[in-house]
Amino acid sequence: MEISWLLLPLVYIIAALALISKIIPKQNLNPKLPPGPKPWPLIGNFNLIGSIPHQSLHFLSQKYGGIMLLKFGKFPVVVASSPEIAKQFLKIHDTVFASRPALAAGKYLSYNYSDMSFAPYGPYWRQTRKIFLSEVFNARKLESFEHVRMEEMHNFLSHLCSLSGKRVVLRDHLMRFTLSSISRIVLGYKYFSESEHEKSIIKLDELIGLLDEWFFLTGVFNIGDWIPWLNFLDLQGYVKKMKDLRKKLDRFLNHVIDDHLDRRNEEKGLNSKDVVDKLLQLAEDPNLEVKLTRDCVKALVQNLLLGGIDTSATTVEWTIHEILRHPCVLQRAKEELDRVIGRNRWVEENDFSQLPYIDAIIMESIRLHPLATLLAPHYSVEDCKVAGYDISKGTMVLINTWSIGRDPTSWDKPEEFLPERFLSKEIDMLGSNFALLPFGSGRRRCPGYNLGLNVVRTTLANLLHGFELKLVEGMNSEDICVKEEYGLTTHPKEPLEIILEPTLSFDLY
Ligand code: HEM
Repeated sequence: MEISWLLLPLVYIIAALALISKIIPKQNLNPKLPPGPKPWPLIGNFNLIGSIPHQSLHFLSQKYGGIMLLKFGKFPVVVASSPEIAKQFLKIHDTVFASRPALAAGKYLSYNYSDMSFAPYGPYWRQTRKIFLSEVFNARKLESFEHVRMEEMHNFLSHLCSLSGKRVVLRDHLMRFTLSSISRIVLGYKYFSESEHEKSIIKLDELIGLLDEWFFLTGVFNIGDWIPWLNFLDLQGYVKKMKDLRKKLDRFLNHVIDDHLDRRNEEKGLNSKDVVDKLLQLAEDPNLEVKLTRDCVKALVQNLLLGGIDTSATTVEWTIHEILRHPCVLQRAKEELDRVIGRNRWVEENDFSQLPYIDAIIMESIRLHPLATLLAPHYSVEDCKVAGYDISKGTMVLINTWSIGRDPTSWDKPEEFLPERFLSKEIDMLGSNFALLPFGSGRRRCPGYNLGLNVVRTTLANLLHGFELKLVEGMNSEDICVKEEYGLTTHPKEPLEIILEPTLSFDLY
């Protein structure tokens, strides 16, 4: 009898433990983790990340392999550096890794994670993606804006013609052109002034400066994100810069929204004309699954502006760098343009099926200089086994496309610029070939790839078709610098100065 009284509490404890173990998910006490360098207390592996993070990570992957685990502060970060491992994250376990980490940049620079790029995976992200795909990126919509792109392209080429023989920083003109096109598509018209006498809320160069800073600040490794108790010190000063930038961009976006609202009030029953109109119309829709607030509209407009300028401009810039370093490539490209297009007209978007060499040059440039070298960071929403390793919920995943583009098992002579490799076999760059991921793959793949590629192709082809591109005096092709400046998009460190001489008849410019 006495014994059974003693046993009773034990029975209760065992029953309680059994119940708890059912309610609380089982923790893997002995997880199999990917290889990686030993982290230091507090900083984790930050000491191993230099000013060009994708190169530091590439270097580490040579030692630890295609999948490696690092710590940023106390948080786990997994890096994929081979096509097979990228496929695991972006295709096989896509739903688990389709979210984004909550970084300061998303909080301060995208209206509290309200744009599509920073939004966590869930109903709001799904809704914005649906809106973008139907209202901006569907083939019919893109076609309806082709005349805008071609008009702006013509302005761009004419302006370059007027600078004939002078030293030109190509990047400045590319940014101007892409900003002008995307502004007219998304905002209806350009809200910036291009000269001293025009009046507007912002000058073109100032706006480009703000957008450039956005890309820089969203790519930085902000210590406060990883060592939260140091956040309040803002040791690198990035959070202050983010808040200052937010104020400036917000002023511009408020002006754009108010101007659209005023016009909607003036012209009652106005059909939506541009993307801002459409977003404002959706913001009034009571049936929308997740309400679109004014901040959401601003975040999405900003998202499109940013997506549409730097991406295409920088891709063309890198490609011109490589072409000028390889005069044979330039010559072969010009021959193709002369043969297919002739000397009496500009290249148009629908010419591209007949310009395989130009396409091959772009793909080769993108392989060596992917714009988003680490894609945008992905984030796991549950525990998952990847390539035999245990990856816990809350892990940030970086896909090192810079490293993957140099993978010797996928690419012959990976360090050489050889567009011809893309002529001999068809290689997809839209997400089904994991050795070439300029737009990512899976749920988070870039929704703007069609627009981006159209702009990159026509801009590059017309620059080569309509101008002789010369290096400035005293510079040789070997002197062209291919060093990088890291950010969410990675630019050439030294913007190239060149001289452009028109080569077609003057009435075309
Ligand atoms: C050459 C041009 C472009 C390149 C190389 C490019 C590249 C990328 C990459 C690498 C990503 C991240 C994918 C990932 O996280 O897995 C992305 C996302 C995105 N891009 Fe692009 N992009 C280009 C053009 C554009 C354009 C023209 C727009 C819009 C006007 C745009 C809008 C976006 C948006 C909204 C996202 C976020 C998608 C999401 O998180 O669900 N992109 N892009």
